[in-house]
Amino acid sequence: MQSASMYIEKSFRLGTVDGRLYSSFIEHLGRAVYTGIYEPGHPEADEQGFRRDVLKLVRELGVDLVRYPGGNFLSGYRWTDGIGPPEERPRRLDLAWRTIESNRVGIDEFADWAKKAGVGVMGAVNMGTGTPQEAGDLLEYCNFPSGTAWSDLRIRNGHRDPHNIKVWCVGNEMDGPWQICHLNASDYGKKALETMKIMKWVDPSIELVVCGSATSKMPTYPEWDRIVLEHTYEAADYLSLHRYYENEGSDLDFLASFVDMDNFIHSVCAAADYVKALKRSKKTMMLSFDEWNVWYQKQLRLRDWEEAPPILEDRYSLLDALVFGGLGITLINNSDRVRIACLAQLVNVIAPIFTEKNGRAIRQTIYHPFRLLSRYGRGEALKPVVICPETETSHGGAPLLNACALYREEAGELCVFALNIADEELRLSLNGRSFGALAMEEHIALYGGDMNAVNTFDHPDAVQPRSLPVQAPADILELVLPARSWHVMRFKV
Ligand code: AHR
Repeated sequence: MQSASMYIEKSFRLGTVDGRLYSSFIEHLGRAVYTGIYEPGHPEADEQGFRRDVLKLVRELGVDLVRYPGGNFLSGYRWTDGIGPPEERPRRLDLAWRTIESNRVGIDEFADWAKKAGVGVMGAVNMGTGTPQEAGDLLEYCNFPSGTAWSDLRIRNGHRDPHNIKVWCVGNEMDGPWQICHLNASDYGKKALETMKIMKWVDPSIELVVCGSATSKMPTYPEWDRIVLEHTYEAADYLSLHRYYENEGSDLDFLASFVDMDNFIHSVCAAADYVKALKRSKKTMMLSFDEWNVWYQKQLRLRDWEEAPPILEDRYSLLDALVFGGLGITLINNSDRVRIACLAQLVNVIAPIFTEKNGRAIRQTIYHPFRLLSRYGRGEALKPVVICPETETSHGGAPLLNACALYREEAGELCVFALNIADEELRLSLNGRSFGALAMEEHIALYGGDMNAVNTFDHPDAVQPRSLPVQAPADILELVLPARSWHVMRFKV
């Protein structure tokens, strides 16, 4: 058995974790909206057609913001199609996903849904076919109190109070040639800046996210990020990052995906800090990791131009949940720069919640680590020192243990999240001397003999976290972590 040591010192602090690290994403894509969150006629539908069973799972998941309405869909979306009497709204071709969009749900309905779900909305403006003026109009419709054409139209459409959407994405993955009206970095930077000027004039209280690279694999990365920031550095509040991981054959490489995510974050910070120096700016650019997840991208597509077809409906395994949990730990360890992160997506499309049309809703395996991270991954992120063996992977050397620690001083609580990627037990010595004795309150773990196990409608709890016995209080706790396992250890200090 190999050994690891983790030293947790209460005065070594990274900073307070922003609750928006636990955000998610709903796009007009597949069954995310239609038969996902919205299904009039479903036995659980409320008076607006929103599924109560899904709302309950979203509330339990602990989501902060939900990014909406896209994604690739955004770059061809006319937001005015989604307002006014639903029966008069146009049916359109969605060129991004080659489907039919009924526009039965638009910004007003989504804002209502968000209130019911207890989440905030992270808005997004179209930088593909859309213009800076249209972005300003949308913001005026959503946030201006009253007395102008757009704000009064919102009131006539049944929403006296403004939606008050405070964070907005300025386009989506504009570096990707797959994007409708893709731009080069310089053209996007100029268009984004002019759009942001209009948006901040309409509502100076908003925060804006500019598009960084769609993935670290883009040929234009990280030049794209540098050039975009050279145009927008002072106007932007966040630079976005997107990254999805899949199992390309080696479970170990897949488990070590957090190494790649960590490198990606550090290199984006380096690009942003270069522009900071170039501009002699006092501002440090923060990051919005507004799409992250496990996603098996090789998917069969049967037909074009269906309405709400079942596409991108990944079924997640125990192994996927472990990888996902490891990525969550890395987000916490970088929470001094990553202020917003969106699990992409929320329902049906590469999602933790999965529904049957006219039927049940279940928690996929990745639901569990997200819920635990959101519930306990709060407070002050510490800077623990982890000493453990490394193993060679396709991402480079990977530590066998990925771990983070969070301290909530007022509540007297310490929480440690840890992932053991080794295919054997790992002895962990947890040293928390600066806290006095570590009194473990709860030890929850995700592991099992069958890495391919999934949750299904008939066996919805096949994969779920289990409780392990807690240890007697000690300055240094000696634990044995099962092979390939993800942990939440909670202490009273
Ligand atoms: O989340 C699915 C898609 O992945 C989004 O539409 C796009 O932004 C990304 O490429």
